[in-house]
Amino acid sequence: MKRLKVLMGDRIVGQLLAQEGAHYFSFDESFIKAPLPLSPYKLPVAPGVSEHREGYFLTLPGLIYDSLPDRFGMSVLRKNFQDQGILSPTPLQMLSHLGSRTMGALSYSPAEDEPAAQEMIDLANAARSAKSLMQMEHADTLDPAIVKAGGTAGGATPKLLAAISTNRSQIITGPSVIPAEMEAWLIKLNTSDTKTSSICQLEQTYFELAKAAGIRVPETMLISDKKGMQHFAIRRFDRKQENPNQRVHIHSYAAMTGIDFSHPGTDYEDLLRLTKHLTRNFEDLCEQFRRMLFNLLASNRDDHAKNFSFTMDSAGKWTNTPAYDLLYTDNDLGGNWMLIGGKRNDIRYDDLKRLADLMGIPQRRLNEMLEQVQDALAQWPALGKANGIGTGLRTVVQSVIEDLNRTLGK
Ligand SMILES: Nc1ncnc2c1ncn2[C@@H]1O[C@H](COP(=O)(O)OP(=O)(O)OP(=O)(O)O)[C@@H](O)[C@H]1O
Ligand SMILES: [Mg+2]
Repeated sequence: MKRLKVLMGDRIVGQLLAQEGAHYFSFDESFIKAPLPLSPYKLPVAPGVSEHREGYFLTLPGLIYDSLPDRFGMSVLRKNFQDQGILSPTPLQMLSHLGSRTMGALSYSPAEDEPAAQEMIDLANAARSAKSLMQMEHADTLDPAIVKAGGTAGGATPKLLAAISTNRSQIITGPSVIPAEMEAWLIKLNTSDTKTSSICQLEQTYFELAKAAGIRVPETMLISDKKGMQHFAIRRFDRKQENPNQRVHIHSYAAMTGIDFSHPGTDYEDLLRLTKHLTRNFEDLCEQFRRMLFNLLASNRDDHAKNFSFTMDSAGKWTNTPAYDLLYTDNDLGGNWMLIGGKRNDIRYDDLKRLADLMGIPQRRLNEMLEQVQDALAQWPALGKANGIGTGLRTVVQSVIEDLNRTLGK
């Protein structure tokens, strides 16, 4: 396979061609006549052919790279191809395999046929199967729910795309069409062996804290499987809330700006500048600043450039997506993944003040946001307990939050 059509709904966006270690992209004439800024910085709509060779984007344009999953979803894809005797599928083969089962609004043609029937999801089986896949890629047969719903979302951890009934009684696979009276959700599976693992409760609690801090978050919930293990579910923002079969264009900060998200060199200052330029909206800028404050003071240190995204409406206007991937994390860097005004550790109030000044955010607004984040984080012990997080983890997180606050000095 050498060539693919890139589509958005019934519009042809362009053509993607693979040749000698690179990809070439050209916008369709019809799209140039009525353009939308799908990737305004790295792939502006214009006639001609662009060449793409960035290894960390699999030599794809960032716009299209965002349609492919990361570690877990890639394992599912590779396993599907291995079962057909294809050991190293090309990016074009993977995109064609996904067809319209991608996240966001883009789809790819020609597409392989999608599985017709939707499966009931047994979360306990899916989690067991996901775990064996992560441990040995060539392992046993995959759980059907993972085959049908696991391959498309990004991120490292095992997850499934699901349709959940509005009364919450039914969960079925949902990578493409969502039946009536159902909503589009993403489920992050808890694959640990012990019921005491509270990673999903931790994420649920962090979303509750973020919401209390005034951050715009999607609806989230915990779902228990038949063994009593809890999994974290988050409502998809790349589908319209009022009609989950309408797809919404999203683009990660990393792919939009050409950043390799696994390299910890990015700075919040760049993210804030881009937010200001792209959205031209002061409230979006403040929202992004608030998320930075939260990630700092709640120790969400997996705050890399793929954990921020933007969404474009049908008129081509960009806003921040709701926040996602929020939880207590640490890393070997001993600080946030993205630098905060050039610093990773020992962040003081003055550092925040300087960054706010640079962005044109008044000190009064900075203080209001900071206070709201701090007040929200004071609820950690109570919310953590209510979600069933044990004393040990509660105490550890509590002392980290207190240390970060003390260092901040305000
Ligand atoms: N509510 C949502 N709606 C639509 N897309 C989402 C939503 N939440 C997450 N995503 C997408 O799915 C990807 C994976 O989600 P998330 O970042 O939570 O997973 P993760 O495995 O914890 O990631 P990481 O590899 O950063 O640890 C995100 O990068 C984002 O593109
Ligand atoms: Mg993530």
